Amino acid sequence: MSKFSHLTTYKLTNHDFILFTYADKKKALFPALKSIDLAIKPHKDQGGSILSHAGKFKTKSYIAVRTSRLDKKNSDTVREMKIAVSAAITEAEKLECKRVIIPLDSTNTDLALAAQEGALLGGYKFNKYLKEKKKPLEVILVSKKSAALTKTLNAGEKVFKWTNFARDILSEPANEIHPESLAKLFTNQGKKAGMKVTVWNEAKLKKENCGGILAVGKGASSRQRLVIGEYTPKRKAKKHLCLVGKGVTFDTGGYCLKPSASQIGMKMDMGGAAMMFSAACAIAELKLPIKVTVITPLVENDISSTAMHTEDIITMRNGLTVQVDNTDAEGRLVLADSLCIASDKKPDYIIDSATLTGACVVALGEDIAGLFGTDSLLNGMILDAADDCGEYMWEMPLHLPYQEQLKTTIAESSNMGSRWGGSITAALFLKKFVDEKISWSHIDIAGPGIKNDPLEHLGKGAKGFGVKTMTSLAGIISE
Ligand code: BES
Ligand code: ZN
Ligand code: ZN
Repeated sequence: MSKFSHLTTYKLTNHDFILFTYADKKKALFPALKSIDLAIKPHKDQGGSILSHAGKFKTKSYIAVRTSRLDKKNSDTVREMKIAVSAAITEAEKLECKRVIIPLDSTNTDLALAAQEGALLGGYKFNKYLKEKKKPLEVILVSKKSAALTKTLNAGEKVFKWTNFARDILSEPANEIHPESLAKLFTNQGKKAGMKVTVWNEAKLKKENCGGILAVGKGASSRQRLVIGEYTPKRKAKKHLCLVGKGVTFDTGGYCLKPSASQIGMKMDMGGAAMMFSAACAIAELKLPIKVTVITPLVENDISSTAMHTEDIITMRNGLTVQVDNTDAEGRLVLADSLCIASDKKPDYIIDSATLTGACVVALGEDIAGLFGTDSLLNGMILDAADDCGEYMWEMPLHLPYQEQLKTTIAESSNMGSRWGGSITAALFLKKFVDEKISWSHIDIAGPGIKNDPLEHLGKGAKGFGVKTMTSLAGIISE
């Protein structure tokens, strides 16, 4: 784990690691450092390659230097800064350095924010279960101060903190994070962030006719929960945004059991809930002028004598009867009731997020989330926000003719379509539960929500995908 701070000057000490970034020979992004020995000046330009070496400073102290060129052909310097900082942290740790210094001779707030993200997200580690914990590395950005930069970095710190909160709960195994424990954690954290939090237990879910949530969680010893967080800004908000997130704390597949290799990663099947709840916490802590309601249905999809069976027919909150043709298509069942609850609140926008379908990963790969929606303006705002944050999303079609695939003879809908286009039929199933008058988007994060391999500046394990984008979107909507 690394710490981040911003200073205007610094004094080199033994075992420092310096990261020089530059755009081209003439426009170095670091100030001229008279105190630095000539021997460790950045290497000659090699067409954008990243160079690094360790050297001596004033012959005595040991310092390491990396020079990173941020303007490779067709490049995005903000993206490269995040990767360069994260790579510098890995290298600095290997060399047993204590601090990473990033001198930046630029007033570009985007680059400074990228350095902060590289430090706080790139330096993230989940080490709770390891006895030997490395001392946190200090990452210091050195540049001129300005009011705008301080404001940006203060906001960044909050967003990255909540992104890492999402990563912490995603990384926890299912014997620690289950519906009851996650509901408690959300309640505590949500209140800390400034939200009002309400938890529906099984009895309340029955009273509220949440047939989908009840059915999916029937077989688990940790009982179903639904957590509602509400943030109301001091000054009356113009817009109300409702966020919904799939919270399946472990997806075995139920009686349509997943093969063991496919169960790996399914402790992160609450990625939608982690993303939406953490984003709501960030929005509340940032005190953005927008009303936000976050709804997270929490269940564990298990096998037991009380678990739901294939071909069970359940009645959802809006009265629609659904035949469960596959117990592994459980996410849409818990989201369905939650989307009805969201619609009842009559917000301006509803956005749901879920690790919903393997089909979405087949379509877009592990790095890109699929975006569906009924309002192209809302989808456009989400794509813009994602682009700003460096999270990848791609618009997919809500192709209405595929609704035919959800037809079944003895219930009003099946919970699965045919073999092809599975992320589309899943989205079309969800659409049945959203009030048509409300703008709605659905984000299938099955890829980046569960990816274990590193993704750019984010290391192995949970990524906390979507927290940045949702927080930034709330900012855009509230403007
Ligand atoms: N949680 C899974 C989706 C998933 C699969 C996410 C792989 C990440 C990686 C979801 O509940 C599921 O099992 N969906 C089924 C639906 C099918 C039975 C219609 C799927 O995608 O196979
Ligand atoms: Zn499933
Ligand atoms: Zn699932």
